Amino acid sequence: MAFSYSLLLAWSSVSGLQGSCIVIPCSFNYPEPEKKPSKLTGIWFKDTHDTIYHPVSSNIIKDYRGRTELVGDLWQKNCSLRIDPLHLSDKGPFTFRIEMEDHNKTAITVLFSLLISGSPDPPSLSVREEVKVGEVVSAFCSVSHSCPSDSPLLTWSLSGTPSVQSQQLTDSQWEVTSSLTFTPSSTDHNQSLVCTAEYRGEKTVKRFKTLNVKCKWTTPFVLTTLFVCGAGIMRSEPGEAWNSSKHTVTQFCLHRGLI
Ligand SMILES: *[C@@H]1O[C@H](CO)[C@@H](O)[C@H](O)[C@H]1NC(C)=O
Ligand SMILES: *[C@@H]1O[C@H](CO)[C@@H](O)[C@H](O)[C@H]1NC(C)=O
Ligand SMILES: *[C@@H]1O[C@H](CO)[C@@H](O)[C@H](O)[C@H]1NC(C)=O
Ligand SMILES: *[C@@H]1O[C@H](CO)[C@@H](O)[C@H](O)[C@H]1NC(C)=O
Repeated sequence: MAFSYSLLLAWSSVSGLQGSCIVIPCSFNYPEPEKKPSKLTGIWFKDTHDTIYHPVSSNIIKDYRGRTELVGDLWQKNCSLRIDPLHLSDKGPFTFRIEMEDHNKTAITVLFSLLISGSPDPPSLSVREEVKVGEVVSAFCSVSHSCPSDSPLLTWSLSGTPSVQSQQLTDSQWEVTSSLTFTPSSTDHNQSLVCTAEYRGEKTVKRFKTLNVKCKWTTPFVLTTLFVCGAGIMRSEPGEAWNSSKHTVTQFCLHRGLI
């Protein structure tokens, strides 16, 4: 008798980045045969004919040879496939077939496609709308990706203490988050806090937020823009006497009485 198989592909959408890797989550099911098969062979195809994964690599078409790996355990009914690196043309549709020795081969034809993008999405960045001089603040930057073995690297434009965490969002998507603990100073006011995500292949994307720094004690202290010239400090707009390329523009928290 022939077996009827069902293939369960449990994901909502599988998207990946060109040059990065992806693990396509895949599981299948079938009624247990009376006689346990002595060998299982899982094969992946592009459409239904071009072999993109086979345990014997000479059966794999040239474009995919060395790029595909069956990471699922077929005995656990797991047919997950890893493609590394991803090419823009890896859209699919792909199909999977399981072959059981001692039983008639049955093709399982499930068509599905991948969404491959050429450039990553910018990270998401959050920090409090208003921070205070000298106060300990945390900012968070995160990106999602499809390649857990090669997470994007997150870096910050401000010095502080970064801490990185990774979590799995879905069967095929992970999220990496960097939290930066820093202590703003008055000169950070109106400066950009930049988070950069670097993917494999030196692909980088950035997101920034302009810091709004307030003095630690509000009244009677105010954050004041000052123009510094040698030992002199002047609170004024740069006029003809003040050339901003020669003079440092900075911010201080000053007592109102001093202004
Ligand atoms: C395989 O299929 C052929 C013909 O379709 C059938 O005669 C044979 O009994 C099947 N063998 C098994 C092991 O299912
Ligand atoms: C299938 O195998 C992959 C790779 O080892 C693993 O990440 C995934 O959790 C497995 N899926 C199931 C449903 O066990
Ligand atoms: C903030 O920076 C921008 C661009 O550097 C500048 O145009 C603006 O005047 C600054 N605002 C304050 C309040 O310093
Ligand atoms: C400001 O200083 C720079 C560098 O010394 C000079 O090149 C520039 O001409 C000056 N600008 C004005 C408006 O004086």
